[in-house]
Amino acid sequence: MDIQQRYKSVLQVLKNYNQQHLLNFWDVLDNSERVKLLNQIEDIEFSSLAQKIDRYVINPVGTILPKSFSAAPAYPAKPKTDEQKKKYHEAIELGKELISAGKVAAFVVAGGQGTRLGFDGPKGDFPISPIENKTLFRIFAETVKAAGKKYGFEPVWYVMTSPLNHGQTLGIFARNDYYGLKKEDIFFFPQGTEVNYSADGKILLAEKDELAVSPDGHGGSLKALYKSGAVADMKDRGIEYISYFQVDNPLINIFDPLFVGLHAMDGAQMSSKSVFKSGPLEKVGNFCLADGKVTVIEYSDLAEELAQKKKPDGSLVFSMGSIAIHMINRSFVDALNNKGFALPYHKAVKKIPCIDIQSGRKIEPDSPNGIKLETFVFDALPLAEKSIILETIRSEEFAPVKNAEGADSPAVTKQMMIALAVSWLHSAGIEVPKKADSSPDCIIEIAPSFAICREDVTAVRDKILPIKPGDMIYLE
Ligand code: UTP
Repeated sequence: MDIQQRYKSVLQVLKNYNQQHLLNFWDVLDNSERVKLLNQIEDIEFSSLAQKIDRYVINPVGTILPKSFSAAPAYPAKPKTDEQKKKYHEAIELGKELISAGKVAAFVVAGGQGTRLGFDGPKGDFPISPIENKTLFRIFAETVKAAGKKYGFEPVWYVMTSPLNHGQTLGIFARNDYYGLKKEDIFFFPQGTEVNYSADGKILLAEKDELAVSPDGHGGSLKALYKSGAVADMKDRGIEYISYFQVDNPLINIFDPLFVGLHAMDGAQMSSKSVFKSGPLEKVGNFCLADGKVTVIEYSDLAEELAQKKKPDGSLVFSMGSIAIHMINRSFVDALNNKGFALPYHKAVKKIPCIDIQSGRKIEPDSPNGIKLETFVFDALPLAEKSIILETIRSEEFAPVKNAEGADSPAVTKQMMIALAVSWLHSAGIEVPKKADSSPDCIIEIAPSFAICREDVTAVRDKILPIKPGDMIYLE
């Protein structure tokens, strides 16, 4: 079809959906700009567009909560009964076997836009370690490499980007020589995107020849893993379990034998780690059980009365918060995609730079003006036949960098990294100088090449020299 024919047929479709403004600037575009715009418009799934706009943009019904639900049970961070102790021991052994056999792969979702942090570039390139200023990507890469050495396998790392940061991310890895990993053992793929809308359901233009789009949420990873060939690659390499984590959490324990082992022993398809919420209204999802399925109910959807509800011992009924750490079976992702699945959309009202469709002027909004639609990975939990939850200790595994300042800021994350390093040294019987308020009077950074978990430090404790007040010590 030549370009005029394409134009005519696209215009007709757009008219049917009341979106013909997307071609308002056709006359001022050159040939390549016209092709670019038509390609983008032709990629829109028009069959579901009207329903999507109605249901999620114009008349959002909000989340439909299950009729009845209760708090989901979780394995405690430390086993309590003898039976549990035995199970944890067996799970750790099984987890180590599966990791050593190369059955577990690392998977980071790094397609987000990191708007709250306001960092110029992919968030994985943000420097965070307290002494060496290692970036998030470097910390994960070194952890992956160290795990390979520790367990004796060739680790593979899947990195999901978005079309908006894919090229930049590839450039960062190339410039850093893949942080010492083999290039062929890192599989990069971009997630999908969703177009952005005005409040009245009109698709926004980012430029006269370009639709405004944003990544389709971390839930998009379940489709992108399949579409990109990552799942097929996993099959070829004999990988069965996907260790899913976020790009913003440098404390992540990527290859955790206990988590892998419990997940595998219980025959789960998608499992999660949780932490005790810091308070009833903490802004994290709540692990619930509805119809026998694990389900995450967002903090904003849980009635305050339920969020505040206490057990007779005074602890919260809904106490387990979701921290976006999952173990996912490769076969689960495969099966979801083979039979076709859809996660619900969540609407986010955001500042979206766009083109005024009458004047063609660029609008740089200073307050939210548009709507992004995203899917969330935890919405796939109820699709799993079996799903377990393992509680973990926040200070050991969860210190996300979200905001430039205040809670979840780089300053807090760095302090948590130091505190964890100090706690590992303590466990190994090493004295760490303290200030009067009992905070550490030193800065410690532990390289993954030195230790990737508490027990590793004990094994090399003899290499650590005495620590003096005010010391800055990098252990590698
Ligand atoms: P966040 O929910 O923190 O979103 O992502 P964000 O886009 O990074 O940051 P803000 O909200 O704009 O400040 C949690 C994790 O999910 C990934 C992020 O990269 C991060 O690891 N993510 C999020 C994606 O990979 N794709 C998305 O579309 C959204």
